[in-house]
Amino acid sequence: MAVIISGKEVSAKVRAEVKAECEQLKEKGVTPGLAVIIVGNDPASRVYVNNKKKACAEVGFVSEEYALPEETSQEELLQLIDQLNHKPEIDGILCQLPLPKHLDEKAVINAIAPEKDVDAFHPSNVGKIMIGDYRFLPCTPAGVMELIHHAGIDVSGKNCVVIGRSNIVGKPMAMLLLHENGTVTICHSRTKNLKEVCANADILVAAVGKPKFVKADMVKDGAVVLDVGINRDENGKLCGDVDFKEVEPKASYITPVPGGVGPMTIAMLMKNTLTAAIERGASLSAN
Ligand code: GUN
Repeated sequence: MAVIISGKEVSAKVRAEVKAECEQLKEKGVTPGLAVIIVGNDPASRVYVNNKKKACAEVGFVSEEYALPEETSQEELLQLIDQLNHKPEIDGILCQLPLPKHLDEKAVINAIAPEKDVDAFHPSNVGKIMIGDYRFLPCTPAGVMELIHHAGIDVSGKNCVVIGRSNIVGKPMAMLLLHENGTVTICHSRTKNLKEVCANADILVAAVGKPKFVKADMVKDGAVVLDVGINRDENGKLCGDVDFKEVEPKASYITPVPGGVGPMTIAMLMKNTLTAAIERGASLSAN
């Protein structure tokens, strides 16, 4: 029987800490502000954006939503980002991905001022994560690390396997584990002997985007299993990348879906926005 690491509980703790710091910052005349851009009508993106706005209200931030129609041009989107880059009361800018096909995601990410890039997607922030010198945390991987720390797990010297090599999760996840002295392997669709590689992991992070992809025979006895996936199973029920029912009896620690990594991503986004606002406050008092 594994210990279930509750992202619900840990994220509530992080949000409470952010809220307390936000109150202190407000006393100095700075209210953190997050601009959230959503283009088109993707239902999953709508849910994520609503949750981000709700979290802002809960911790005391101001949030501004920019809901743009599907047919928005690249130029219009870049113009909005430029305006927000120059808007003093906006500390963080987030453009919900994926964007409609006709828009150039890379150019959009590049257009966000690195000091307002609370997703930490801009190449300058990605580079900082690579060298371990960063202010903005990559939200989902940082959320996973927070869960690992909360459970009291020491990463140093452990075999860590990350399944998935996305820029948003897999790659920065591997970096954060490496910064804590894990021995890290990144697996992907071309990995040979995936089952054997995963079954050697002390810490296994699943970020593949395939429902119940990780089965019991891919998991070592006593492994720590962190599930980043948010999928629908054959019955339309929310499930992770890990087959929880099969894997849970073998693991020492495991995160559930829902209520595991998911809520952590938003909590870390709040933390990044607070960091940006604290820096605005510091530069205001320096001038
Ligand atoms: N789409 C899926 N996850 C994310 C995220 O963390 N940030 C943004 N901007 N878009 C996403």
